[in-house]
Amino acid sequence: MNTIGKVFVFLVLVYATFMWVGYSVTELTGGEKKAAPVGAVEISPEGGEALYWGKGRCFTCHSLGDRGSAVRGPNHGQFGEKFPLPMGLRAVERAKERAAKTGKKFTALDYIVESMADPGAYVVKGYKNEMAVVYAPPISLSLDEIKAIAAYMLSQGGDFDPEFLNQPSEITQGFFGKIAVASAAGGGDPAHGKEVYEETCGDCHSLEGEPGDVGPDLSTVGKKGLKFISEAILLPAKSIAKGFETYVAVKKDGRKVVGLKTRDEDGEVDLVTKDGDEVTIKKSDINELAEDKTSSIMPDDLSEEMTVKDYQDVLSFMLMQKGKKK
Ligand code: HEC
Ligand code: HEC
Repeated sequence: MNTIGKVFVFLVLVYATFMWVGYSVTELTGGEKKAAPVGAVEISPEGGEALYWGKGRCFTCHSLGDRGSAVRGPNHGQFGEKFPLPMGLRAVERAKERAAKTGKKFTALDYIVESMADPGAYVVKGYKNEMAVVYAPPISLSLDEIKAIAAYMLSQGGDFDPEFLNQPSEITQGFFGKIAVASAAGGGDPAHGKEVYEETCGDCHSLEGEPGDVGPDLSTVGKKGLKFISEAILLPAKSIAKGFETYVAVKKDGRKVVGLKTRDEDGEVDLVTKDGDEVTIKKSDINELAEDKTSSIMPDDLSEEMTVKDYQDVLSFMLMQKGKKK
């Protein structure tokens, strides 16, 4: 396929993603709780049970007491000496341990939701960090489905109080936001998106709050939204980030240097090329130095290097960059 063809296919996919995001955002921000749409998830321990043993595929790694046979993840019931507490009570214990360690409030719900939203944050002793990202393909649980499963987990060994889910702590709200965003980004897998980012984007950009070697810091880019980010990737020159304008220096020997102008003083300019090389040129060697508003240092063919899945995954990872929570 030629470039135009590929870009076209991408734009169609992106457009489909927008439609779906628009739809889900409407669903998410409905304000007053609307009447439950047909096929809606029941946010209750019973609703969660059906998902745990069905669509959520939890049973492929976990068992619950003597129900199920999987042992790749911890048993979620009370089971032998290894699991003296069922998950609801275990979560209370784990939350207490965390609160004691960090000195910050941490609830059992925070623990359960964290185990799904950010499985690597706490890895149960004796197990590998290999819990599935359950809100990404192929499992793709929605936020409501995750809430239902959390209710099911909390009800193991304890009375589940629905108020619990209605008044989530700030920590849980943060996780809910993250899950909503990830499933809105066409169901991309942010964990794999991080790998794509590191391979394809990380040489130029940074997520640390300081500009990267060649491109701007992206640690809060998620706030700019899906449309902005996908355009920045597909058509970088359409809107060039301030301070990252492209300069072209035509030297007297006819050679051109294209890059970001990082210094302009003492009769010299520094241009950083797209490879990250800093080139110092004497102004007396330059015939012409001008800003090129039609091109970005960021390559415009990155989407061609990526599969559609990589692209969606990197988008969902980007959407999650909303600044560090201190
Ligand atoms: C691919 C296997 C796999 C799948 C699928 C999976 N998990 Fe896990 N899970 C693990 C592993 C391994 C651990 C232990 C390591 C860790 O803590 O991350 C774990 C840990 C947990 C814990 C913490 C347990 C404890 O003792 O503190 C909870 C809660 C949990 N998973 C819930 C779920 C739920 C709910 C689902 C389904 C929506 C699910 N898991 C799907 C593998 C999986
Ligand atoms: C060769 C270096 C380079 C690579 C590789 C690169 N970028 Fe960029 N990127 C830039 C530069 C320079 C800018 C600023 C100019 C512009 O806005 O086009 C930029 C701008 C952006 C912006 C807009 C930021 C803002 O706040 O305006 C986003 C989003 C972005 N890049 C994402 C990505 C992603 C995602 C990838 C990987 C798939 C990537 N970039 C790969 C150099 C790069």
